[in-house]
Amino acid sequence: MAEDTDWVVHPHGELVPLAENLWRVEGKLPNMDLERCMVVARTTAGELVLHSAIAMDEAHMAELETLGTPKYLVVPNGWHRMDAPRYKARYPGLVVICPAKARSMVEQKVPVDGTYDDYASLDPEGTVRLEHFGAEKHMEGALIVKSADGVSLAFADSLFNVPHRPGCFWFVYGRLLGSSGGPRITLISRMMMLFTRSKAPYRDFLKRWAETREVVRLIPGHGDVVSEGAADVIAELAASL
Ligand SMILES: [Fe+2]
Repeated sequence: MAEDTDWVVHPHGELVPLAENLWRVEGKLPNMDLERCMVVARTTAGELVLHSAIAMDEAHMAELETLGTPKYLVVPNGWHRMDAPRYKARYPGLVVICPAKARSMVEQKVPVDGTYDDYASLDPEGTVRLEHFGAEKHMEGALIVKSADGVSLAFADSLFNVPHRPGCFWFVYGRLLGSSGGPRITLISRMMMLFTRSKAPYRDFLKRWAETREVVRLIPGHGDVVSEGAADVIAELAASL
């Protein structure tokens, strides 16, 4: 049986550049009709921040290393941890970061060096930052990347952008639970925020960024990048909470 640290590769796409310091790769999730994505950001020091890491084939890992030095591994919630131990075994010097509320779940798989509060800015210029959606209650936060064309916000399960799909799973999970058909804060995410009374910090985060008009790109944990009218989309999402 494969160990958690064995380099197991599932089908994935290309490392797609989104900005001069930002890339995204989408991959298949085993046993689930849902894609996942890894975001790679580069700090001003040339260090790579790997958000929601996906183990890639050797050609793409070599390509990754041409972009910069893998330095930070961000596990964005308690579930997106599958490939974290693989990366830590491959790059033992990686600094592992996760939201405070996800720490106990992430630590079941990989040692954690600190939370989003401990590593709020990953370079002195603040081009790559991490922010909780309320550290005490919400299990997620966002990766915030400043590029020449504006600000990108990367999420985990707090934002989906998956089109409607056929099949039973997508009828229930997508249409009935409101997880598909455009940028969505899923019902599961809403329920979690309801139970933990943690809606306000996430709503305020979206509102604040909507007001700055600096956001040019939303990168959901599952689904397509939102690059058209991103500031308006987050304003609508905030209003829906
Ligand atoms: Fe997810």
